[in-house]
Amino acid sequence: MTIGTFYGVGVGPGDPELLTLKACRVLREVDVVFTSAQERSGRSLALEIASPHLAVGREVVPLPFSHTFEAVEEGSAHRENAARVLEVLRRPASAAFLTLGDPMTYSTFTYLVTALRGLEPAAPIQVVPGITSYSTAAAASLTPLAEGNESLAVVSAAQGTGPLAAALDAVDNVVVMKSYRRAAEVCDLLETRGLGQRTVFAGDCSRPEAFVLRDLGAVRRLPRRYMSLFLVKQDRRP
Ligand SMILES: C[S@@+](CC[C@H](N)C(=O)[O-])C[C@H]1O[C@@H](n2cnc3c(N)ncnc32)[C@H](O)[C@@H]1O
Repeated sequence: MTIGTFYGVGVGPGDPELLTLKACRVLREVDVVFTSAQERSGRSLALEIASPHLAVGREVVPLPFSHTFEAVEEGSAHRENAARVLEVLRRPASAAFLTLGDPMTYSTFTYLVTALRGLEPAAPIQVVPGITSYSTAAAASLTPLAEGNESLAVVSAAQGTGPLAAALDAVDNVVVMKSYRRAAEVCDLLETRGLGQRTVFAGDCSRPEAFVLRDLGAVRRLPRRYMSLFLVKQDRRP
């Protein structure tokens, strides 16, 4: 049986000019584009970013995902969504799944691939890397992610500040992603460690509403922002 290729396409952090040439070509050529629709609004930011690069009349299919940790662990949405993708690939047709930033960095795409492989181990899969949110935040704030012998860790604060605390004990520079529900806890920990002056908070990177803050007090006063992250640079020299 012929099966179409399933592409994970990174659409970058928000600016439609920050897609790779390869991402643009794949988006022009695939038969179907899948997006992850937000549960409440049905909106897909990745689709908004990619829209200028899609051919007119391209078939676009929103897949419903819950972004809660429990739902990811439980995995049923991934199986149902993978079955919908497989139905398309078996037409046969090619399909792309859009992800914010890079598909291999904290993305629904990797769960979808696991579920798809469970249903059809022979499904051809290709990944088009994307520019990550944190490299965009580093560019916007002129913050080197790592220099010389420095080490870099990327952690999630979705479940709390434990991973950040462990990273601060072990490495020089830390990127804290998915901190939007935990921003105050992250600020508490950074202040306790005396890192307030060594932290950058970046939101909506590469979007028209992008901002960079270097003051944790101002971060605390902000409303919750999904598209935001911290860059922390320690000075661990003895
Ligand atoms: C599910 S992860 C997606 C990461 C993405 N795959 C990447 O490569 O950057 C969502 C988190 O990425 C970060 N993020 C994504 N886009 C961003 C942007 N434009 N500005 C700041 N942070 C962003 C935020 O920390 C957000 O909570």
